[in-house]
Amino acid sequence: MHIEVVTLFPEMIHAALKPGVLGRAVERGLVRVGCEDPRGHTQDVHRTVDDRPYGGGPGMVLKPEPMTAAIDAAVARLPAGSPRVYLSAQGVPFTQALAKEFSTLPGLLLVAGRYEGLDERVIESRIDREVSIGDYVLSGGEFAALVVIDAVARLIPGVLGDDRSAVEESFDSGLLDWPHYTRPVEFEGRKVPDVLQGGHHADIQRWRLKQAVARTWLRRPDLVAKGGLPAGAAELLEEFLAEREGEEHG
Ligand code: ADE
Repeated sequence: MHIEVVTLFPEMIHAALKPGVLGRAVERGLVRVGCEDPRGHTQDVHRTVDDRPYGGGPGMVLKPEPMTAAIDAAVARLPAGSPRVYLSAQGVPFTQALAKEFSTLPGLLLVAGRYEGLDERVIESRIDREVSIGDYVLSGGEFAALVVIDAVARLIPGVLGDDRSAVEESFDSGLLDWPHYTRPVEFEGRKVPDVLQGGHHADIQRWRLKQAVARTWLRRPDLVAKGGLPAGAAELLEEFLAEREGEEHG
């Protein structure tokens, strides 16, 4: 997969793509990430990329000429039809479903803003989708672009290695992940749950699904409401709630 990032800080992107799973994916050629800096598309001696907003107010807006020139240069390197994504707090939420969709594509353009962001006309003429990584405001789109790159790259076959790629993901089921433990069996007086120490696979799967459902219900009731529960999960939630009720009154 080929990803291009339009950014005023290419070094942020390159630095983050060196270590770990992502670094290896880039090294092995499974993911190719290029950057295009709008500052290289300025014409004045000061290499100006921003200007004051029409209508007044604080903050600066990214000038359309260097931004569109940088976007066009990056797009020219990508396979035809690659979606052009602008990272902004005004975007639609980035989800695992969107990560999956992007991971099947041959190319993707990510545009990171700074200051108050892009001139709206650039969004109208050059951007297919505006995407937000969460309900908070970042000082720039670079970290958001990196979040998208990370979530997408790990879904590309081979990036995580064959053994891990087949593993069911927590969000595939619309649920949060269950708790994980490793040795030692007792740590600071806390013990690994008995069921995980026995080798009873069905019991372990049942315990894990129940933990996942309970956590999702407690921490993210919006996910339970939105997606409904996967097969077998509703009765495990009932069981958890009954036990909880019992503890409260017992
Ligand atoms: N740029 C600034 N805030 C952002 C957010 N929440 N998501 C994506 N890009 C952003």
